[in-house]
Amino acid sequence: VPVPWESARAELRGLLTDADRLVRAVAAGRRRGSQPRWVRATLRPVSLKAGTRLQLTTDDGTRPTTRNLAWGGEVESTVDELLAQPFGNWHIDTRDGIVQVRVTKRGEAQIHRESTGSGLPTGVPAARAHDEVPAHILDPGDPLFDVIGGTAAKRRQVDAFLRSLAATLELDGHQAAGSTPSGSETALPSPLRVVDMGCGNAYLTFAAYRFLSTLSTVEVELTGVDMRDDQRRRNTELAHSLGWQDRVRFTAATIARAPLDDPHVVLALHACDTATDEALARAVQAGARWIVAAPCCHHDVARQLRANRPPAAYEILTRHGILRERFADVLTDALRAALLRLHGYRVDVVEFIDSRHTPRNVMLRARRTHAPASPAAREEYDHLVAAWGIRPYLATLLDRR
Ligand SMILES: C[S@@+](CC[C@H](N)C(=O)[O-])C[C@H]1O[C@@H](n2cnc3c(N)ncnc32)[C@H](O)[C@@H]1O
Repeated sequence: VPVPWESARAELRGLLTDADRLVRAVAAGRRRGSQPRWVRATLRPVSLKAGTRLQLTTDDGTRPTTRNLAWGGEVESTVDELLAQPFGNWHIDTRDGIVQVRVTKRGEAQIHRESTGSGLPTGVPAARAHDEVPAHILDPGDPLFDVIGGTAAKRRQVDAFLRSLAATLELDGHQAAGSTPSGSETALPSPLRVVDMGCGNAYLTFAAYRFLSTLSTVEVELTGVDMRDDQRRRNTELAHSLGWQDRVRFTAATIARAPLDDPHVVLALHACDTATDEALARAVQAGARWIVAAPCCHHDVARQLRANRPPAAYEILTRHGILRERFADVLTDALRAALLRLHGYRVDVVEFIDSRHTPRNVMLRARRTHAPASPAAREEYDHLVAAWGIRPYLATLLDRR
């Protein structure tokens, strides 16, 4: 239900000036008949030598400008200036969740609140260092890394993935690995069975085991699945070197056919093309409670878009090859999210890491709720695939049109 802009403004002001809870905020778009001074404004806490500041980046459409604001009067007056601009939308990530505000044509505010848990376990500060290396979820000095190796870039990617995993499992009450366990009870089952689909050299697999097994009361069993037997052999040797061979195992098989032991959590980081669909389908079929998947390349829907004529009003979207490919990416992941919802999952689609670290930075995070799909959701999905004349591979695997 829309509320007067003034009451939304007061709530936004509180969130944007909260040094302890704000993670990131973006203002963009414009209200009917008006034009904000900037196309986009982004706010996020940063740690500088001088202390924590709120970094404001404004973009007037030609180039971005950045300023670091001191908490207190400077932040408050700048936030007031921003809130006075006629932006159409605000998106705010906080430690507790997401608040989105859209200003309607009538000038009222439509507020959407989502409690996600930010994925920042207790003790991990919201503010990031100025060079944008996020606070680590696993200590970079962990001896694990001496054994499994990996580049700094991979470490950063896996760290970001684990942060999202923590949010999905709602682990905010727990301590990050390496710090003292909080002792609080966990709602996670024990043993917690986790499978990493398309695990490759198992960097994520080992890091996820380390992270999850450090939680206070949880026994973790992790299985890495990859079709390459050389990876299975190598990864199994590493598990032995770490003394984890009883709890971290590897299977050489396709994701579609790998034997699974009723996993609670299914992970997939950059499983190629339709391997992500195989991972999602196996998760749904096994009734996994949580799914965290960052897809890789998307060829399946792109191929179908090339072969089909788009709906009349939308030809412009697929006329240029590069735009068609990008549109296919969006369509693929939107349909994956829709199919998961139709199968009783609550789904978030997020960027789990900045795009400069990997262009494949979209992530589907799903929690099983058993909520029956509404007829409207079914209709929405059916209309979309019918209009574009496509059948996503995930639908084939889940035996849906
Ligand atoms: C891009 S790598 C990602 C590896 C790892 N998850 C990571 O992020 O470092 C994709 C991996 O998926 C495996 N793979 C691709 N398709 C597969 C399938 N259908 N079944 C099992 N493994 C598959 C490949 O062998 C490869 O190791």
